Amino acid sequence: MRSCPVRVILLGAPGSGKGTQGERLAHRLGVPHIASGELLRAQVRAGSEIGRDIAARLARGDLVPDDLVIEIVGAAVRAATEAGGYILDGFPRTRAQAERAHELAVELGVEAQAAVYLALDDDVARARLAGRAAGGRVDDADAEVIEHRLQVFHDNMRPILDFYDELGILVTIDAAQPPDVVTEEILAALASMTGFPSAPASA
Ligand code: AP5
Repeated sequence: MRSCPVRVILLGAPGSGKGTQGERLAHRLGVPHIASGELLRAQVRAGSEIGRDIAARLARGDLVPDDLVIEIVGAAVRAATEAGGYILDGFPRTRAQAERAHELAVELGVEAQAAVYLALDDDVARARLAGRAAGGRVDDADAEVIEHRLQVFHDNMRPILDFYDELGILVTIDAAQPPDVVTEEILAALASMTGFPSAPASA
């Protein structure tokens, strides 16, 4: 297990590869992969009243309210931070989420080291999500819902990218490349950042 902490945020459109890269980076860097969408889908499976409200929003492709997401994701991030770090995928989705998370992290002295933006054209994202439609995710099954998810992404992402750019921790990667190339480019970019430990070579 590494001794240096790793705190990395993955940003990008639906289908940009946040989940794919999150798993790979977590494996290579020896920290947990926290995916906000997975945490929300777990709430749905639990069948609580909150879960039913979340289910309706996921099915429409709408965002879950900031306060609720911050509570759910924040608990997982706090636990991972204490254990050595995280790769966080899918959070933040609004500038308010980014600002609140950063304030809390500053209070605790555990700011994110990097925000990695997986840049991808909408047409490539659409094709990837269509290719995954048989996988059972309710928000992949309907082309209109996919369009809405992309629109929600475009409505919210620019101010988030500006926020991390102003903090000096934004890294942009071409996510249209093969998955292995994307992983290596992310690791190389992280390794070049101040205070970030380099990853062991893949097995
Ligand atoms: P979430 O689960 O985060 O879904 P998403 O952002 O729509 O992203 P996806 O999981 O569809 O794609 P991905 O970028 O992870 O790509 P993946 O690796 O899977 O969020 C779902 C919903 O939860 C949101 O709509 C919202 O309602 C809610 N939510 C979540 N977070 C929230 C928050 N913070 N605030 C409020 N609401 C929130 O790859 C996609 C496909 O492409 C796969 O088939 C994969 O194999 C393939 N692929 C990946 N990389 C490549 C590559 N390089 N080349 C070729 N194919 C590739």
